[in-house]
Amino acid sequence: MKLLIDDAHIEEIRSLYAYYPVDGVTTNPTILSKCGKDPYIVLQEIRDFIGAEGELHVQAVSRIAEDMVEEAHHITSILGKNTCVKIPSVKEGYKAMQILKKEGYRITATAIYSPAQAFLAAKCGVDYVAPYVNRIDNLGYDGIATVKEIQDMLTANHFETGILAASFKNTRQVMSLVTYGITAATLSPDVFKAMNNNQSVESAVEAFISDFESLRGKGKTMLY
Ligand code: G3P
Repeated sequence: MKLLIDDAHIEEIRSLYAYYPVDGVTTNPTILSKCGKDPYIVLQEIRDFIGAEGELHVQAVSRIAEDMVEEAHHITSILGKNTCVKIPSVKEGYKAMQILKKEGYRITATAIYSPAQAFLAAKCGVDYVAPYVNRIDNLGYDGIATVKEIQDMLTANHFETGILAASFKNTRQVMSLVTYGITAATLSPDVFKAMNNNQSVESAVEAFISDFESLRGKGKTMLY
């Protein structure tokens, strides 16, 4: 399963890439608004950092299909044709998805709250469907079960569309989907870091270091 960062702060992105196996970056208008800068400056910085082949998702914000298509052309002309354009899974969005897929663009159908929406998007030929796990939970439904149902639907219908699950609030939600073998998940920096946040592990490693130092001296390692 691919693991992406759902954030646009370049320092957070650099820091996570420095330590962890990261497969790309996803953004949305809310995430970009938190940077408080021109979105294209922010996005270009991310593109420069992850490289031309790096996976980057950028959302169109128009309400009408033709305008979404125009936005997709503009986004990719600046950030590269391989940029995945996120198109909301609404009526106008499905129209835009079909046009853009015929034109050969990479499309992520976003704002997926139900398997029915994902089915329509997959029929449009999109590359990813992006269900919002935690937001589905907050509606009183089961976000993880919804994603699993979407995966079963994609498999049963032999769609090539993958799932890019989003909106996680904890690592348990993430791991439920890792074990189900979905294509990708995108995590906020906090949830990403929590994947490796275990005080017992830290204590165990510190105890190993301390025991070694008691044998060979403070600061000594296996390099002596
Ligand atoms: O792009 C969708 C995803 O970022 C939503 O996450 O945490 O705002 O529900 P959240």
